[in-house]
Amino acid sequence: MADVFRSQLLAGKSAIITGGGSGINFAIAKRFAAYGASVALIGRTKQKLDSAAEEIAKTGVKASGHPADVRDYDALAAAIKAARDEHGPIDLVVCGAAGNFPAPALGLSANGFKAVIDIDLLGTFNTCRAVFEHLRRPGASIINISAMQAFTPMPLQAHVCAAKAGVDMLTKCLAIEWGGQGVRVNSIAPGAVDDTEGMRRLAPTPEIREQFTKGVPLRRFATKDEIADLAIFLSSDGARFITGAIVVCDGGQSLAGLGVNVMAAVQPRA
Ligand code: COA
Repeated sequence: MADVFRSQLLAGKSAIITGGGSGINFAIAKRFAAYGASVALIGRTKQKLDSAAEEIAKTGVKASGHPADVRDYDALAAAIKAARDEHGPIDLVVCGAAGNFPAPALGLSANGFKAVIDIDLLGTFNTCRAVFEHLRRPGASIINISAMQAFTPMPLQAHVCAAKAGVDMLTKCLAIEWGGQGVRVNSIAPGAVDDTEGMRRLAPTPEIREQFTKGVPLRRFATKDEIADLAIFLSSDGARFITGAIVVCDGGQSLAGLGVNVMAAVQPRA
């Protein structure tokens, strides 16, 4: 990681990141650590968490893994308590655990729909609810990882759209309820992010990737580090008056709809 991304901005702070063993959430964990925070990773797979924590610990920052499924409140609360016991009061929380697969509504069983609602929406609530008593207050920051699907309807994504819309409303409600105690709650809504399990599922071929890219005004996917940089800002003192915000980081994709595809194909008169 370039030295420019190393500073002590988050020194002395401790973070909990669900889904932190891979993807965007692992990128955020690495960025938090590079900025001086100690990190506790929560996820379903112990081996994945252990190797992610080990990679971070090699940089000289305290890191640990605490396996739990965010759908299981008691197991999650125990994992969060173990993280607090190891890292001290929690300053920064990222609710990033998520599930996604493309499926038409008629191809979804009730249980398939519920699986995504339970991981994304209930899991975010469970994390926020269970971590609250362990937060260093005032001053703590919670970031919920949302998606463009929260406000842009997409085919094959009814389950995800419903879940992420719920996540964003939860963000706003918690921001109102917890603001008085000095806890900020914000959402990050990434667009298409390269090299993630989500995009491997949603854009599995070069042709579909190209279609996605054409729909992005900035004409590319985001990198995981670009989402992590936004998380750094929202977690920092620079964002101390920002709460209840849904911060979109999608290269403009949600603004453009089909317009960008159409305009890209049109040759304007010189
Ligand atoms: N299309 C339709 N239904 C599907 C599906 C698909 N592609 N994949 C899973 N389901 C359904 C299953 O059939 C099941 O319903 P059923 O009991 O009526 O048959 C239900 O979803 C739960 O599946 P299961 O595999 O038991 O759930 P899980 O809790 O082990 O896994 C998922 C959750 C389904 C979200 C799984 O994809 C996952 O674990 N994802 C994590 C990684 C991920 O999605 N990363 C991207 C993040 S953006």
